[in-house]
Amino acid sequence: MTLRTKTLTAALALTISATGFALAQEGTTTTVPMQPADAQEAPAEGTTFVATPAEEAAPVETAAEEPAAPEAEAEPAEVADDHGDADAEHADAGHDDAAEDHGDSHATAHIEDIDFSFEGPFGSYDQFQLQRGLQVYTEVCAACHGMKFVPIRALSDDGGPGLPEDQVRAYAGDLLPIVDAATGEERDRVSTDHFPTVSGMGMGPDLSLMAKARAGFHGPIGLGVNQFVNGIGGPEYIHAVLTSYTGEEKEQAGSVLYGNSAFPGGWISMPPPLSEDRVTYEDGTPATVDQMSTDMSAFLMWTAEPKMMDRKMVGLVAVLFLMVLSALLYLVNKRLWAPHKGKLKH
Ligand code: HEC
Repeated sequence: MTLRTKTLTAALALTISATGFALAQEGTTTTVPMQPADAQEAPAEGTTFVATPAEEAAPVETAAEEPAAPEAEAEPAEVADDHGDADAEHADAGHDDAAEDHGDSHATAHIEDIDFSFEGPFGSYDQFQLQRGLQVYTEVCAACHGMKFVPIRALSDDGGPGLPEDQVRAYAGDLLPIVDAATGEERDRVSTDHFPTVSGMGMGPDLSLMAKARAGFHGPIGLGVNQFVNGIGGPEYIHAVLTSYTGEEKEQAGSVLYGNSAFPGGWISMPPPLSEDRVTYEDGTPATVDQMSTDMSAFLMWTAEPKMMDRKMVGLVAVLFLMVLSALLYLVNKRLWAPHKGKLKH
């Protein structure tokens, strides 16, 4: 083999690598079109709403009653205990007792791991689950929570709830009207607008990115190993908040707080939004509180990361490509060095 053919082989390997890279790039660029609109709004308003709930929650009890150490001690044991425990109610009951033992402390907040369809390297959203989540949002949560970063048109995207476009248009028209940026006048919302912004007394934080702004799993001892095993747990946290009302109420500084064992501090100002059969699912799924919460959490995961499936696809292509490239480079290297290693001499 002459030097020229060796060079050609190396060039071929490089060309293939470039093609693979281009392919991966193409995967990412197709995901982009939706972003600019989000990106424009994000810097202006994105950071504030994430901070709001924490600010609201902080004065309640967290600062005084939640030293870091007990949490670190309590969590690893709990996670290990309940991991295989399929009976959610049972686990919850145990947890409530524990919470009482500790007084009001949040040290034992337990977040149940849920086996969502979108988890894992090949996981994808369940279209029907997203549709059910959208229904719960629209009929229940939209009264108090906006989703200003989510474009309404995304409802017809592949990999999302996948509604037909005429339905999306009709849906947009039924939402709160919007003040047109160009004319300054109120008009009906259209599918190119975003979901409404909701703010004011008694209203909750924006939910667009909530599933990524919260973590369900921590520790042990601040190591984050639980997140490595179970995922960050944003959707699980939302599910837990919706299902962990203790039924207690108290009034503090003029507002009513509801006992919630999953919410940091143990008291949340959101009244329990869900009750058995609060919505009627069109696909006949029984609307238990647990079911609605799971669907809602999956839906909020989609709003927070609508392009997750594309991301996983690109990752897969990239890994496959890197494997092929490694094999080729290995062969090229072997060829180039063969004459000097005394095997192939000519
Ligand atoms: C009556 C109004 C109201 C309704 C209806 C409502 N919420 Fe809330 N929500 C609130 C308020 C107020 C807060 C802020 C709670 C706090 O910080 O104490 C909140 C907070 C939240 C949080 C954030 C918790 C955190 O960690 O900061 C989530 C998640 C949430 N709501 C989800 C939902 C979902 C899902 C629904 C629909 C099933 C819903 N909410 C319905 C008023 C409401």
